[in-house]
Amino acid sequence: MTGLRAFTGALTFAVLAAATFPALAEGDPAQGETLFRPCRACHMIGDGAVHRVGPHLNGIVDRAIGASPGYQFSDALANAGAEGRVWTEGSLDRYMAGPSDYFPGTRMVFRGVRSEQDRQHLIAYMLAAGGRSEAGAELAEVAVAPEIAAILEISGDVPYGEYLSSECTACHRDSGGSDIPSIRGLAPSVFIAGMVAYRDGSREHQVMNTVARRLGDEELAALAAYFAVAH
Ligand code: HEC
Ligand code: HEC
Repeated sequence: MTGLRAFTGALTFAVLAAATFPALAEGDPAQGETLFRPCRACHMIGDGAVHRVGPHLNGIVDRAIGASPGYQFSDALANAGAEGRVWTEGSLDRYMAGPSDYFPGTRMVFRGVRSEQDRQHLIAYMLAAGGRSEAGAELAEVAVAPEIAAILEISGDVPYGEYLSSECTACHRDSGGSDIPSIRGLAPSVFIAGMVAYRDGSREHQVMNTVARRLGDEELAALAAYFAVAH
């Protein structure tokens, strides 16, 4: 009996400890690297990482939320950072578990990582690959992939963009939705990075892959210019 009680006690303690200190030390970076594969559709991390659809994640741990220079965050994340909130292992864990549960209004369209163990592996990987905030600050030099930079240099023709946009607004409503994000007011760098990722297939979504592959650089620049402005 005593043995059983001691055992139960230890179990309770372990559960409490896990709940209070999620994601410390226990994650395995190698497993995290594999789990990070779906994140790579939108995020880069490590040497030479730049913003894509999502911000690069170098130095994410201990950095202010939604504050990576050169990336236009949703108000949800930007306001949290402005209030002085920082990404810790705990807040990363909760964000990955359910991005829009933790930050309603976040622009990260991702269903979340259900397993706490997997989230710990992911955090361990992000620490190993991108360092903590201080080390990451040196890597955080903002750079844009050449293909995206080339399109950003084209000055987009807004009326042409408006003409092309009727195909998009059939799905993309200004209010957004749980499955279809609002694209109104997206920074051109974010918009174009997203469309290029659909066009080259590094971000997979059948409809958007088809839509993006029909559009040339001029069209993307025009659409980016049109959608950047709130109408
Ligand atoms: C479909 C694209 C997409 C996928 C997949 C995705 N993210 Fe994101 N992520 C974003 C976007 C967009 C943002 C910016 C959100 C905002 O501004 O609200 C973001 C933001 C973040 C942030 C906050 C960055 C900061 O500087 O504050 C973290 C951390 C993050 N993502 C981690 C992950 C991880 C880990 C995965 C995989 C488990 C993942 N994301 C998968 C698009 C994505
Ligand atoms: C049939 C519906 C449909 C049409 C038409 C459509 N989209 Fe999309 N779009 C989606 C869905 C669904 C997603 C989210 C896909 C995902 O999870 O990657 C999306 C994602 C996007 C994103 C990424 C947004 C983000 O926050 O990551 C951009 C940019 C975008 N679409 C632009 C366009 C443009 C420009 C057009 C018109 C040329 C267009 N879409 C037409 C359904 C559509």
